[in-house]
Amino acid sequence: MTPEAAKSAAARAALELLPPSGVIGLGTGSTAKLFIDGVAELVRGGRQLVGVPTSEQSRRQAEALGIPLLGDEGPWSIDVTVDGADEVSPALDLIKGGGGCHAREKIVSAASKLNVIVVDESKLSETLGQRWAVPVEVLTFGHAATARLLSGFGVVTPRKRGDAAWVTDAGNLIYDVAVGPIASPTALERELSALPGVVDTGLFVGRADRVLVAGADGVRHLTR
Ligand code: A5P
Repeated sequence: MTPEAAKSAAARAALELLPPSGVIGLGTGSTAKLFIDGVAELVRGGRQLVGVPTSEQSRRQAEALGIPLLGDEGPWSIDVTVDGADEVSPALDLIKGGGGCHAREKIVSAASKLNVIVVDESKLSETLGQRWAVPVEVLTFGHAATARLLSGFGVVTPRKRGDAAWVTDAGNLIYDVAVGPIASPTALERELSALPGVVDTGLFVGRADRVLVAGADGVRHLTR
């Protein structure tokens, strides 16, 4: 199975978990994009689904496909959010933010009754941090000072888009912090989040209710 076919299988499996009508959190990334395509098909077929996008990218896609959206201000009562992830631990803790949208993704996740993560098998790891650095969104003011504080945790690399700094939907910057295998994702999330200048980290601890993993044998449902 190609990675693209696996992402598509996971995204389609997530569609089965949606209520007949309700509010759906629309994740970001290449796997979530396939899910949003599926939501649009359901809406075209008459399903009363309304979205909350986790990025401008997902908003543009949803609008172009005719999915009705709620306003950005919240509060929302989201029935199910479906999103991708970069790394998934056996405890279903996650590293997200490969697309730089983890701050919004975390806000939407926290407003959701059910959080479903869609991945292919390449995203599974024994210990979080083995495969991915932790993306950290920081305020532009004093960002180099914040980076210095982050360097106490691992190797810090400023995220770039080509030659320019990567700027998030909220106008902030991202530093990727390679920390290696993480003994306690809970403690690391707490410590990074407490640093002045940090907006949010890509560590999602205890937030995924269900992870749909697509591989050669089909889609496995992992639950907390
Ligand atoms: C966006 O900021 C990320 O959290 C994505 O959800 C994550 O990077 C997974 O993306 P893919 O589905 O493209 O691998």
